[in-house]
Amino acid sequence: MNTSKTKDKYQIAVVPGDGIGKEVMKATLDVLDALDIDFEYVYGDAGDECLEKTGTALPGETLDIIREADACLFGAAGETAADVIVKIRQEMKMFANLRPVKAYPNTNSLFDDIDFMIVRENTEGMYIADEESFTDEGAIARRIITREAERRIIDYAFKYAKDNDKKKVTAVHKANVLKKTDGLFREIFYEVAKDYPDIATEDFYVDATAMYLITQPESFEVIVTTNLFGDILSDEGAGLVGGLGLIPSANIGQDGALFEPVHGSAPDIAGQNKANPIAMMLSAIMMLRYLGENDEADRFEASILKVLNDANTLTGDLGGSATTEELTSEVINNL
Ligand code: NAI
Ligand code: MG
Repeated sequence: MNTSKTKDKYQIAVVPGDGIGKEVMKATLDVLDALDIDFEYVYGDAGDECLEKTGTALPGETLDIIREADACLFGAAGETAADVIVKIRQEMKMFANLRPVKAYPNTNSLFDDIDFMIVRENTEGMYIADEESFTDEGAIARRIITREAERRIIDYAFKYAKDNDKKKVTAVHKANVLKKTDGLFREIFYEVAKDYPDIATEDFYVDATAMYLITQPESFEVIVTTNLFGDILSDEGAGLVGGLGLIPSANIGQDGALFEPVHGSAPDIAGQNKANPIAMMLSAIMMLRYLGENDEADRFEASILKVLNDANTLTGDLGGSATTEELTSEVINNL
C-alpha cells in the first residue's frame, strides 16, 4: 500500500474490543509473533465492556495510542461499534477505506478467480448525512463531492495499483444522472490518470458495475468510488467471496491507519473458541503491506492459503470443526 522504508521495530496499537474481537486478535498476534519482524504492542480499550468499566466506549487515551502508533489493529466492538469505529475514522481523518475482494479455496466463493480491491472515499459524499428535516413535501439529503477529497482518494487508488502490480483502475459513478458531482469525480479521475501512464483506466456507472461484479468479476483489479457506492459494492463483493470470517479491511489516513475484520463481535459464538480468525489475520496482512513488509505478508498469506487448501483445520463457518486455536497453530506451523 505504501512503500515506506521498513523499520527495526513497529509500534502497533492493539484494540481487541468485545466478544470474538478478543479471540481473533490473540490468534493474529500469535502469528505476528512468529514472523521475522519486531512489534511493540500498545493495548487500547474500546467497546461495550470498556463503556461499562469506564463510562465511555472510546477513551481519549485509546485515540492517543492509535495516533502515536505506526498502525492499529482493531478486533470488533459490540453495540457501541458505531460510536467507536466511526469516531476513530473521523478523529484520524481516515479518508480511504480499502476492502479487498479475493476468492480463497474451500470457501463459499461464487467464483475462483476473483481478486480485486475496492478503494472507497470515506469522508464525504452521501455520508456527511446532511439532511434537512421533514417538511410537508418531504426531506432533502445533500451529497458533497470536493476536488480535494476526490483527488486524494483517486490518487491513492492509482498509487495502490502501482505499488501492488495491478494493471487497471476502474472508476465507478453515476455521472449520467449526477452530472455535477459525479461528473466532477469522473473528470478528476482522468486528470489523475495522466500521472500514471502505465495503468489502464475505465469508468462504469454504478448500476452496471453491480451487474458486472456478478457477470465478470475477474475483470476488475482496482475499483475507486465515492462513499455510498463504495459501501454498497463492497458488501456485494463480500457476498461474492462468501463469509464474514474471511473479509478484512483497512482505513487509511494522514494521521494513522487501522486494520480490522469486517465482522462484528459475534455474541452467538463468543468465548467458545469457535471464531474464524482469518479475517483478522488478513487484516494484519494488509497492515504488513502498508508498513512495506511485503515478504512477511506473502509468507503469512501463503500459510493461510495452505490451511484453506488442506481443509483439515477449518472452523465451523467454513464447514470444519477446528477451534480458533487449532487453526491458528496450523497457520504458525505452515509459516
Ligand atoms: P457479526 O459479524 O458479529 O456476526 C454475524 C454472524 O456471522 C454471526 O452468526 C456470527 O457468529 C458470524 N461470524 C462473524 N464473524 C465470524 C467469524 N470470524 N467466525 C465465525 N463466524 C463469524 O454481526 P452481528 O451479529 O450483526 O453483530 C454482532 C455485534 O457486533 C453487534 O453488537 C454489532 O453492533 C457489532 N458489530 C461490530 C462491528 C465492528 O466492530 N466493526 C461490525 C459489525 C457488527
Ligand atoms: Mg457497510
